[in-house]
Amino acid sequence: MKIERISDLERQYALESLNGQFETHNNYKFVTRLEKTFAEKTGTRYAVGFVNGTATLHTALEAAGVGVGDEVIVPPLTMSSTSLAVLQANAVPVFADVDEKTFLISAPEIEKKITEKTKAIIVVSLYGLMPDMDAIMAIAQKHNLVVIEDDAQCFLGTYKGQKAGTIGHMSSFSFQASKHLTSGEGGMVTTNSDEYALQLRRISGLGYGSISIQKARITKDDIQDPAYERHVALGWNYRMSDVVGAVALAQTERMEELCACRMEAGKILEQAMAGCDWLIPQQTPAECVHAYWAVVARMVKPDITWYDFRRKFMELGGDGIYAAWQLTYLEPAFRNKSFLGREQFCQGYTYEKGLCPVAEKIQPQLLQFKTNYFDTAEAEQQAEILRKTIAYFG
Ligand SMILES: Cc1ncc(COP(=O)(O)O)c(C=O)c1O
Repeated sequence: MKIERISDLERQYALESLNGQFETHNNYKFVTRLEKTFAEKTGTRYAVGFVNGTATLHTALEAAGVGVGDEVIVPPLTMSSTSLAVLQANAVPVFADVDEKTFLISAPEIEKKITEKTKAIIVVSLYGLMPDMDAIMAIAQKHNLVVIEDDAQCFLGTYKGQKAGTIGHMSSFSFQASKHLTSGEGGMVTTNSDEYALQLRRISGLGYGSISIQKARITKDDIQDPAYERHVALGWNYRMSDVVGAVALAQTERMEELCACRMEAGKILEQAMAGCDWLIPQQTPAECVHAYWAVVARMVKPDITWYDFRRKFMELGGDGIYAAWQLTYLEPAFRNKSFLGREQFCQGYTYEKGLCPVAEKIQPQLLQFKTNYFDTAEAEQQAEILRKTIAYFG
């Protein structure tokens, strides 16, 4: 399979958007089309465009009513925006350990971390695999918690036939450059709730009173009156630019093709590890379709290091191997609670080794292979190099 990442469609839409001169009546046309198409393609009622996939999480938390001192349960093994957004909302990230086989936040571990202060859970579809959503939604219902899916890495992944972005109360996607679909930067939140959709729109649109689920901006008519009052609540300016929306629309229209290519590359690379008992790939449960934002495996071979494996792979022509993110709570910003004043809301919480033993064990073992090949012949070549590297170390 060979495709173009950026095709004539993206170029055409971007140019059309620019030709609109960002005039008020044009400015948001593409974002509006993008939101409609994205909602249709993911099978949700609403999709709201954002500047990126961190602003999405911050806004979703605030739309859910999360605020000062509330606890939000998050996984430690993920890109740290998941937890930074909790701090942005003046809330406290509480880390629940991951499952050793799927590397995903574990439902029983979530339940252990629930207190009377818990308001929400952010679950991450890490590397393109959705967590055990039935169990997580049941826990959330029992304790009256809001579930936000962080699907930045999971376009068109499924859990029991349900697409990423359709099970949690709100779901966040990212169009950052490494993602399945990209407009350089950008984000989207999906929801089936009228109430959350309006809150998402209002909080990401400066708290303007005259906006609605479908209307993201104040119109010229609204402000032809000196007595006009704009802000009914506090909000941020997290709106997506129209030219970004134009590129993201083209990518969304091509969603199936872009994801299929990446999923195929993922399977090709994962197959190269078959039969090797010291490289253990992320386990995909039978009820899930993995979207393969990356292929990730644990290396459990005591006689070689992570660095030895990477060096040999690259020597043989491999593209490189990424390490897993440092566990969020072990980052200096967390260890030292360097939270721009928000440490006042986190008194009594410590971020240190020992919080999530499974994640601490597996994080240094993880080898992450890229899947963003737009010609799967390149993934075949990388898979062959991976086979040779495995054979070298025996
Ligand atoms: C799991 C996860 N959450 C959140 C984000 C943040 O998205 P963005 O970079 O668009 O802010 C990313 C990626 O960058 C991510 O991988």
